[in-house]
Amino acid sequence: MIDLRTAHTSALDAATLEAARVLLVDAFEGRFSAHDWDHALGGVHALVWDETGLIGHASVVQRRLLHRGRALRAGYVEGVGVRADRRRQGHGSALMEALEGVVSVAYELGALAAADQAAAFYAARGWKQWRGPCSALTPTGIERTPEQEGGIFVFRGAASLDVLGELTCDWRDGDIW
Ligand SMILES: CC(C)(COP(=O)(O)OP(=O)(O)OC[C@H]1O[C@@H](n2cnc3c(N)ncnc32)[C@H](O)[C@@H]1OP(=O)(O)O)[C@@H](O)C(=O)NCCC(=O)NCCS
Repeated sequence: MIDLRTAHTSALDAATLEAARVLLVDAFEGRFSAHDWDHALGGVHALVWDETGLIGHASVVQRRLLHRGRALRAGYVEGVGVRADRRRQGHGSALMEALEGVVSVAYELGALAAADQAAAFYAARGWKQWRGPCSALTPTGIERTPEQEGGIFVFRGAASLDVLGELTCDWRDGDIW
């Protein structure tokens, strides 16, 4: 029995949200901070269960990405994780397919910061690597974020994108991208 559902954060109860957070801490082998979890909240979650419980999570939240003089409404994907014993069985793809549907309808583009080990997973789904400079709109102005360059991926939307141009994200606590 596989059950995949999408729901806004506001429609999920505290126990489900806590199960998702714990799943992500495990999926990232402990390298998933309180800020990382905060970044995954306030948008649409995709969750997949089997008979043993929750086995996968991903969410998409709104951010503004500055590009070519515009502040684009971006669906930013966060908290993508599948329980280790259920990987390579299509669950990550099913989660992403659900969120890509949300992105296609609700946002001008999709974007995410890929962990090194997940870049091939996103590329195989048609996400394009951003090849231009990346930066952040910090409280003291725009600052380059060179450590993220090569790890940002975007998903087609209505926005006209030049992946060799500059992409600037809005500000937040924790990892900026
Ligand atoms: C990345 C992750 C979510 C993928 O979930 P999954 O359920 O294993 O993904 P799928 O089974 O749908 O994989 C679909 C395809 O993506 C590619 N893929 C998935 N994991 C891959 C990996 N580790 N390396 C290379 N390609 C990979 C493969 O082409 C795979 O198809 P195949 O199994 O037929 O070869 C999962 O490995 C995970 O939770 N990793 C730890 C947390 C993490 O890194 N999250 C991403 C942060 S940006």
